[in-house]
Amino acid sequence: MEVITVANNKGGVGKTMQAYQLTCYLANKGHKVLAIDLDSQANLSSTLGVQVQRTLIPEWLIGDVGLDQVIFPAEGNAELYKNIQIIPSSRHLSNLSKLLILSETEIRKDAGRKERLLRIRLEEIKNKNLFDYVVIDTPPMLGDELIMSLVASDRIFIPTQAQDYSIDGLEELMDTFEIIKDTENPNLTFSIIPSMVNPRRKIERQRLEELSQSFNTTPAIRNLVQMQESISLRRPMVLMGKNSTGKQDYEQLWKSLNL
Ligand SMILES: Nc1ncnc2c1ncn2[C@@H]1O[C@H](COP(=O)(O)OP(=O)(O)OP(=O)(O)O)[C@@H](O)[C@H]1O
Ligand SMILES: [Mg+2]
Repeated sequence: MEVITVANNKGGVGKTMQAYQLTCYLANKGHKVLAIDLDSQANLSSTLGVQVQRTLIPEWLIGDVGLDQVIFPAEGNAELYKNIQIIPSSRHLSNLSKLLILSETEIRKDAGRKERLLRIRLEEIKNKNLFDYVVIDTPPMLGDELIMSLVASDRIFIPTQAQDYSIDGLEELMDTFEIIKDTENPNLTFSIIPSMVNPRRKIERQRLEELSQSFNTTPAIRNLVQMQESISLRRPMVLMGKNSTGKQDYEQLWKSLNL
């Protein structure tokens, strides 16, 4: 079971889009995929057809409820959805940090440090051999959700826009990555994925060039209207025709990442 987190502390860079396309791509290949939505905006949950009033993710993390209380089958009118289960989010998850502080003594007694909670839960799932992949969508901030995910993951995918602010913001995320790698998770790797790129804009081409000098970047995903339609129609790129430019972008990306 491989655990992949999609993360960037900057908002609106295409994290949820990427988590959705990756989940569906893997499911379409026949893999069993668990999607985990750790963003209280719950966009991945609704795109995978599951909405809950109040998520029990905090209770699940601290071990008060079992997996069966937080997991749901994805819903959509394509075969591939049968291979996807989701742990959905809800507004309530925005209180996660507070809830974890409240139960801190309990956490320390049972599980050690709170940043390890998700890893412990995922190890239990791994031992049951239920899934081939776990794909985690995270909120646009460097909070508990993101830290827990970095500790629990094998790889982080970092969608990045070719704009000054996005690239500056990367440094903060990379510092956090280094700390987690040095302390909790030495095997963690990252991939920087240029996202929502408009190759006709000279400034974007220049920034991408600079980005690829500082980091090893993957093939880019272009800014395309069909991507937005994919979300609103809840029809993943992998099911589009082979002439679809968006599908081609993603196929190239996943291949470069050995998926
Ligand atoms: N390649 C793309 N081409 C066109 N539109 C895109 C592309 N990727 C994402 N979008 C659109 O851009 C918006 C932001 O994308 P998305 O929600 O995936 O970002 P996010 O990083 O998850 O945002 P947040 O930080 O709020 O969680 C959405 O409306 C999405 O449909
Ligand atoms: Mg999102």
